Amino acid sequence: MRIVVIGANGTIGRVVYNKLIDKGYDVTEVYHSSGDYRVDIRQPESIQELFKKTGKHDAIVSCVGKAYFGSFNEMTLEDYYTGFEHKVMGQVALVKIGIEYLNPGGSFTLTTGITCDDPIPYGTGLAMANGALNAFVKNTAINLENDIRINAVSPGLLELSADKLGRFFPGHTPIPISKVINAYLKSIEGKITGQIIRVQG
Ligand SMILES: NC(=O)c1ccc[n+]([C@@H]2O[C@H](COP(=O)([O-])OP(=O)(O)OC[C@H]3O[C@@H](n4cnc5c(N)ncnc54)[C@H](OP(=O)(O)O)[C@@H]3O)[C@@H](O)[C@H]2O)c1
Repeated sequence: MRIVVIGANGTIGRVVYNKLIDKGYDVTEVYHSSGDYRVDIRQPESIQELFKKTGKHDAIVSCVGKAYFGSFNEMTLEDYYTGFEHKVMGQVALVKIGIEYLNPGGSFTLTTGITCDDPIPYGTGLAMANGALNAFVKNTAINLENDIRINAVSPGLLELSADKLGRFFPGHTPIPISKVINAYLKSIEGKITGQIIRVQG
């Protein structure tokens, strides 16, 4: 299977990439600011250029997505657009452009997150982005042709990120990375589509 992992040097992307390599797949790793293959998911022309270089794939895996993270009272209307521009429209563009570079029977796996199901004090921007993407995945699944599938992995706070982010997730149980990897494998290697694969404590 030919697979491309966007965000392959991130906390989640790195372990997903390593697992896919261990399993013997032909995996292209894509970063934003370094590496042989780079993309800015906010720029459709950058996505187009990337896929022209990397060619056809059986799975396109996105482990990226930023959104405003902070106080509701201090948040401006503009701040809401950060998540839409980056996490939502960036991953939507990966699908809309990437579909031309996906073989029949191939799959998209996007990344959302727990905050739209389980609110946290600073999570309003992130929650909106995650909810919008979950809706995109469910609807897009019934519109895709050629047996192409699409799913989202929606992790809770990772154990790997708990030192840095744990204080923002009061009462949340951090998730072992092995469970998160399995969610990506379920989407990439399995047959499900239109699913939000929640890996939450
Ligand atoms: N970590 C967690 O506990 C957790 C929990 C639930 C959900 N999530 C979600 O999982 C996703 C990945 O999180 P993470 O913790 O792995 O993030 P991370 O460690 O910050 O990694 C982010 C990745 O995205 C890339 N990136 C940044 N801006 C980009 C852009 N404009 N275009 C393309 N790529 C870009 C980065 O590349 P460079 O390094 O080259 O800039 C890096 O590879 C996010 O959507 C996050 O909300 C994370």
